[in-house]
Amino acid sequence: MTMSTSKCKNIKWLAITILIFIHVQEGESIKWLALSKASDVRIWTKEACSGAKTSGYLERKQARACRSTPDIMPNLIQAARDTASVCQQVFKDRRWNCSSIELAPRYTPDLLTGTRERAFVHAMSAAAAIWRLARACALGNLAICSCATPPRRVPPLIIPHTSLSLLRTNSALLDASAAKSLFKWGGCGDDVKSASRITKMFLQSSSSSSLGATGRFLHTVDMHNSRAGRRTVEQSLSLECKCHGVSGSCSVRTCWRGLDSKGPGAAGTRIFKKYSTAAEVRPKLGRLPPLYHHDNLLYTTKSVDYCSLDKKHGSLGTIGRQCNGNGSSLGYAGCEYLCCGRGHVTKTRVVLERCECKYISCCYSVQCSTCRNIVTTYECN
Ligand SMILES: *[C@@H]1O[C@H](CO)[C@@H](O)[C@H](O)[C@H]1NC(C)=O
Ligand SMILES: *[C@@H]1O[C@H](CO)[C@@H](O)[C@H](O)[C@H]1NC(C)=O
Repeated sequence: MTMSTSKCKNIKWLAITILIFIHVQEGESIKWLALSKASDVRIWTKEACSGAKTSGYLERKQARACRSTPDIMPNLIQAARDTASVCQQVFKDRRWNCSSIELAPRYTPDLLTGTRERAFVHAMSAAAAIWRLARACALGNLAICSCATPPRRVPPLIIPHTSLSLLRTNSALLDASAAKSLFKWGGCGDDVKSASRITKMFLQSSSSSSLGATGRFLHTVDMHNSRAGRRTVEQSLSLECKCHGVSGSCSVRTCWRGLDSKGPGAAGTRIFKKYSTAAEVRPKLGRLPPLYHHDNLLYTTKSVDYCSLDKKHGSLGTIGRQCNGNGSSLGYAGCEYLCCGRGHVTKTRVVLERCECKYISCCYSVQCSTCRNIVTTYECN
């Protein structure tokens, strides 16, 4: 070996070490998703908060937030679980299927570099956090917030269901002053403003001062994506109303603005749409060019195609993944896409299932027979 090649090798190792170091730093702001593994019954004492920091789940400022407002922690645990389950749900048919989120806080390069996938996870985790915290506010579970302050303006006239017929039969009611007497803000609106503030405080606490220029730029992009996620939830508030008055006359109606009651999943679907239209940004100026709208997701690194095993890029490959092998099946779940053209194997197995169950009236019991069903699955080569 000549002198120069060994020198080259040294430099290469140095570069790799620096790269790994940067990666470790860059992955920080979603380390808290490791909270998904924390126990529900954990009591968030000051020691527990510091312990979570030592285990690498929380950053310094996040641990401080944990110590000062420990009642947010169970909601963040829930939000971390929501993030993983919504991510895996929306990506289930994709080559990158979000399984690496389970590695938190020790992520692989798919989430440590500025990929689209990282953009999704940042936005989704912010959306899940704000949803959980807003719900906790409305349920009175947090000392720092409760119901939303009602808006000053009158609730809009076009209000779901029954009110329409009411308005139609009595058109005199259609002027704004009448509307005021009919509808009023009440109930308990989801306090998205406070929840957003807490989420921001918690998620933006990662400091970027120790990072190099690339790291700082990535941090800016992360914060942008996290804000896009919060905005997705903020914009999803919908008007909910309840009728009051004798025998359903609905002479008074109280309205509030509520979150999608089914959970952060709906926000996940909207963020997933933004994933496919995400825009690439380059760290030329060290800050984001102004033309990018708040609601876009941004990424700084092109993703690999995730077709084959590639540890350097955090790709697990799709060998062995189940796909839809039905001849005409196109689209993302189809074997053609998922197996990256490598083809697939068809596997059949026999499963025994209870079937043709009958209720035997004499004896209050159910009798079934056993059927043999052939189940076909398709797996990527
Ligand atoms: C996701 O992909 C990985 C790697 O291909 C695979 O091991 C895992 O089973 C997949 N998960 C699901 C739910 O399909
Ligand atoms: C494949 O097609 C058959 C018949 O069209 C259908 O019964 C079966 O559920 C399909 N399988 C999958 C995995 O979509």
